[in-house]
Amino acid sequence: MSRARGTGRTDATGRDEEPGRTEDAGRTRPGRTDGTSGGEDTGRPDGTGRNESTGRTGPGRTGSAGGRGDTGLDGPGRTETGRGGEGVGREDGGTGAGGVRGRVRWVVVGAGGLLGREMTGFLGERGDDVVALPRRALDITDAGACAAVIRRGDVVVNAAAWTAADDAELDEDRAFTANAYGPAVLARTCAAAGARLVHVSTDYVFHEAPGGPHDAAPTPYAEDDLPRPRSAYGRTKAAGEWAVQALCPDHLIVRTAWLYGRYGACFPLSIARRLREHGEVRVVDDQFGQPTWTRDVARLVVELVLAAAPSGTYHATAAGWTSWHAFARAVAAADGADPALVRPATTAGIGRRAPRPAFSALGHDAVHRVAAAGADVAPIGPWQERWSYASALVLGALGPGPERADAAH
Ligand SMILES: NC(=O)c1ccc[n+]([C@@H]2O[C@H](COP(=O)([O-])OP(=O)(O)OC[C@H]3O[C@@H](n4cnc5c(N)ncnc54)[C@H](OP(=O)(O)O)[C@@H]3O)[C@@H](O)[C@H]2O)c1
Repeated sequence: MSRARGTGRTDATGRDEEPGRTEDAGRTRPGRTDGTSGGEDTGRPDGTGRNESTGRTGPGRTGSAGGRGDTGLDGPGRTETGRGGEGVGREDGGTGAGGVRGRVRWVVVGAGGLLGREMTGFLGERGDDVVALPRRALDITDAGACAAVIRRGDVVVNAAAWTAADDAELDEDRAFTANAYGPAVLARTCAAAGARLVHVSTDYVFHEAPGGPHDAAPTPYAEDDLPRPRSAYGRTKAAGEWAVQALCPDHLIVRTAWLYGRYGACFPLSIARRLREHGEVRVVDDQFGQPTWTRDVARLVVELVLAAAPSGTYHATAAGWTSWHAFARAVAAADGADPALVRPATTAGIGRRAPRPAFSALGHDAVHRVAAAGADVAPIGPWQERWSYASALVLGALGPGPERADAAH
C-alpha cells in the first residue's frame, strides 16, 4: 500500500505539506483563541447517562452473550476454565471490577506501524506472550491466514489501518479494504475462534463538535456519540467500528487520536526536524485535539484487557486538548528551539484534501467507569504532562538538537 507519510517539507509558500502523520493534520476548535492549554476533560465521572457504552448488556455486548460462550477453553490466552458462558477470564461477569486470570496470548496485527510497534514492545517488556504480525506476516483481509493464527482465548489487537487521510480521499476503496473489510474479517475470525478483539479506531469518526461547529464551549465526544465522519478515512474507520460491533461480541473498540511515539513518523518528529532544517514552521492554530503518546495507549489497552473490561467503546487519549500550533510550540521548546519560530497558520490557508474535524477531543467516561468499579485501570494524564515525559524519548530519534549538542561540549 502506498501511503503518504510526513515529509517534514515546507514549500515556498510556507504551506505545511505534512505537519505530522497524514491522518492528524488538522482539527479546528471554534471558540478558542489561544490554543495553548485546552479545556480539561473532566470525564463526567458521575456517569450522568451520557456515556452508556460500557457495562451495557444486549446484542453485541459481552455481558449478555459473550464471544466465548464455549466451556472448556484451552488456548494459551485462556484465563480460567469452567466459567461457563462468561467472557474468558472475567471474574466479575463483565463489570470490570474483576480481571483476567492466567496468561494471555496477545496477537498484534499491523505490528509494523507506529502503534503496533509500541504495543509489541510494551507487551514484550512486560514479559507477556505476544505474537507480533506486521503486514508482511499477516494481511488482515486474508480470512484464511487470520484463521490460521488466531486461537481460542487470544487477545487480538488490531493496529493495522490505512492512516493516510488525504490519500484515502483519492482511493476510498482501498482505504475501506484496510479499515473496514479487514476489521470485519478479523472480527468474524475472532468470534469463531473465541478470541477477544481490541480494535483501534480514531477521533476522525467524528467531525463537528457536539453542540455544533460554532459552539463556544464544545464538549468532548462521548463513547456512544454517533459517528458522523466527513472524510473518506473517517468513513472507512467508522465502518470498521460497526463491523466489529456487529461481528464480534467480545470486542473493545479503542479510539485514539493525534498519536506520537518513538517508532515511526509522527508530528513532533516532523516539527523538530523542520525547525532544525528550516528555522521556522507554520502550523495550524485553529484545530484542536489531544496529542497522545502511543505508549500510554498501549498501557491502557493492556489494563482494559487484564481488567476484563466489558465489551464496548473506550477512548484512549490524553486529558485536556490543545491546538496543533500549541503542541508544535511545546515540541520546539522540548527540542531546545524558540517556540516563537512556530508560526500560526489557518486550516483554510493550509488546504488539505481530506476535511479535518473541527474539534475532536474525546471524553473518557468509559475508562473512568471501569476504574470506578475497582479495576486497575488508569486514564491517560494531561497531554502536557505526558509530552514532557515522552519528549526526550520521541525526539531522541533525531539525535541531539543544536542546544543539546552545545551543552555536550
Ligand atoms: N497515527 C495517528 O495519529 C492515529 C490517530 C488516531 C487513530 N489512529 C489509529 O491507530 C491505529 C494505528 O495507527 P498507526 O498510526 O500505528 O498507523 P501506521 O503507522 O500507519 O500503521 C498501520 C500499519 O497497518 C499496516 N496495514 C495496512 N493495511 C494492512 C493490512 N491489510 N493487513 C495488515 N496490516 C496492514 C500498515 O502496513 P504498511 O505500512 O505496509 O501498509 C502499517 O504498518 C489505526 O487504527 C489508526 O486508525 C492513529
